[in-house]
Amino acid sequence: MNSALPADLLDGKTIFISGGGSGVNLAIAKILASVGADLSICGRTKSRLESAAKELRGLGADVVTTVADVRDREAVGYALDASREQLGPADAVVCGAAGNFVAPAEGISSNGFRTVVDIDLMGSFHCAHAAFEQLHETRGTILFVSGGQSYMGFQHQSHVAAAKAGVDQLMRSLALEWGPLGIRSNSIVPGPVTGTEGMRRLSAAPGGADAWTQSIPLGRFAEPEEIGSMAAVLLSPLASYVNGAQIVVDGGLSMTGPALVNRATLGEA
Ligand code: COA
Repeated sequence: MNSALPADLLDGKTIFISGGGSGVNLAIAKILASVGADLSICGRTKSRLESAAKELRGLGADVVTTVADVRDREAVGYALDASREQLGPADAVVCGAAGNFVAPAEGISSNGFRTVVDIDLMGSFHCAHAAFEQLHETRGTILFVSGGQSYMGFQHQSHVAAAKAGVDQLMRSLALEWGPLGIRSNSIVPGPVTGTEGMRRLSAAPGGADAWTQSIPLGRFAEPEEIGSMAAVLLSPLASYVNGAQIVVDGGLSMTGPALVNRATLGEA
């Protein structure tokens, strides 16, 4: 998958990934499987999890799947229990499950705003919270999947901005609180990634994909493996002194400022 990574980088490690059945989370899961990790993935859709598990087993991983909505703390707890029973305590947790839609703030109902905050922020908290005992035991690692909305103003993304900023502050708080227990917490900010549902939604405006590409200093979207490789490094001993860091993997997009990003999302000049 990525020949630059040592093939045994995460040999025998158990990694739990929320939302691991699709998108950038599945891309991360595939890289982790290719460097020796066993995986436990949870999500809302059984068929999606099963198809992801088949791919991951093909890469040599032992895989556990659990249907769980991250908004439900109890369900996440069951998923982590099932994971432990079959694969042993988690060495790492990737809090990846997320939801998004593009809508002006005045057009979002209270329930719509809350839904995204519940999935992204509460869901991330639920995964970290439910995994605490296991991570304490293994002196493990948490990786939150954040977004540029956390630190740049994006129009029609007020709900996601609130959620992702919360995710990064949660990450920083846990880095302080759980760092002394040997648990590292970091976040990764993927830029636009080829073929993901999130980018389909964010580039739906006319000319949207081209506008994104023109905004990115490296001139292209990320390949999913490029996000997965950085995630693997952050979860591995290569990053043993990295704690409380927000790692941006966006080809330099955030250097261009929000104006270009907003034009790409909304299709406005
Ligand atoms: N504009 C405004 N409001 C919207 C919306 C949109 N495009 N899409 C959904 N909502 C609102 C709904 O109207 C509803 O609010 P209401 O009850 O006041 O009408 C609320 O959000 C919940 O919608 P619902 O479809 O019932 O929630 P869900 O739990 O089934 O789905 C979402 C969650 C909305 C985030 C959905 O888009 C989803 O499941 N996304 C997952 C995939 C994804 O987003 N991938 C990208 C990850 S970055």
